[in-house]
Amino acid sequence: MAGPRVFVTRKIFPEELDKIAAAVDMEVWPDIMPPSYKVLLEKTRDVEGILTMLSDRIDANLMEHSPRLKVISNMAVGVDNIDVAEATRRGIPVGYTPGVLTETTADLIFSLLAAGARRIVEADKYTRDGRWRTWEPMTLLGQDIHHATIGIIGLGRIGMEVAKRARGFDMKILYYSRSRKSPEEEKRLGLEYVDRMPELLSRSDFISLHIPLTEETRHLIGAEEFAMMKPTAIFVNASRGAVVDQRALYNALKTRRILSAAIDVTEVEPIPPNDPLLTLDNLVITPHIGSASVPTRTTMALMAADNLLAGLRGETPPDCVNF
Ligand code: DGY
Repeated sequence: MAGPRVFVTRKIFPEELDKIAAAVDMEVWPDIMPPSYKVLLEKTRDVEGILTMLSDRIDANLMEHSPRLKVISNMAVGVDNIDVAEATRRGIPVGYTPGVLTETTADLIFSLLAAGARRIVEADKYTRDGRWRTWEPMTLLGQDIHHATIGIIGLGRIGMEVAKRARGFDMKILYYSRSRKSPEEEKRLGLEYVDRMPELLSRSDFISLHIPLTEETRHLIGAEEFAMMKPTAIFVNASRGAVVDQRALYNALKTRRILSAAIDVTEVEPIPPNDPLLTLDNLVITPHIGSASVPTRTTMALMAADNLLAGLRGETPPDCVNF
């Protein structure tokens, strides 16, 4: 159908694409691999709206080359792939998908934590390799989750859901965050605030990161921070890879400075197949699937479509990060 032109950078669910196509002149990138930046520049030159993924770089240069652009709708809660300040300066609303993926991501974080603690991936391989010959008292021993201490860095929506799951496992919960809960809430939720990250790092058996990637948080966790952790610590990250200095993570795991790590994100995504991290047996890694459940991805696609269409109508998108 004719109408405002939009570019959708990846195939999403057909119902949501139909909803967009009914209102606008839509082009959808057909490949599973994202368009290159050069192609993205070409495809967005004359459009009024873009529906983007977290792997698409939407920077000031692209906005400059897309003079008709009225709305950017990102199918993610993180918007570090977009120059939001520039979009704001140009009056372009940026839609995102908060709330809906909180519990799904917390479920994955807890699965990673459990996989790290109980060596699930190693145990699976051990079994398939035909090495399970008897019940053996000293084989594949892991760490307890119950009654252990978890340190949560960043107590936003996802951090709160991780804390809820931790309560179910009778864990002691420490948190370090920009804003502190009231003493009543801390008591009700079984949370202990620590005002210095080193204290959290040195006291926790599990450390889980839940913070956005910004210039301030880039490489927040590096060699110095790993050095403060217990030798039995299990480090979990499903936020953004660049919040961690990946070389320092590799060294901490390789030298057994910490016990293990379980991560869903890496500094460069996808991680190159020859990255040294992938040689380690004390690392569990998944390919950025925090929000990847059928119901959640369906809702994210619907929210992204609604944000896009609202922006094209000149309205503020229902979930908008900058207006
Ligand atoms: C997001 O939405 O930012 C998540 O990382 C996607 O899984």
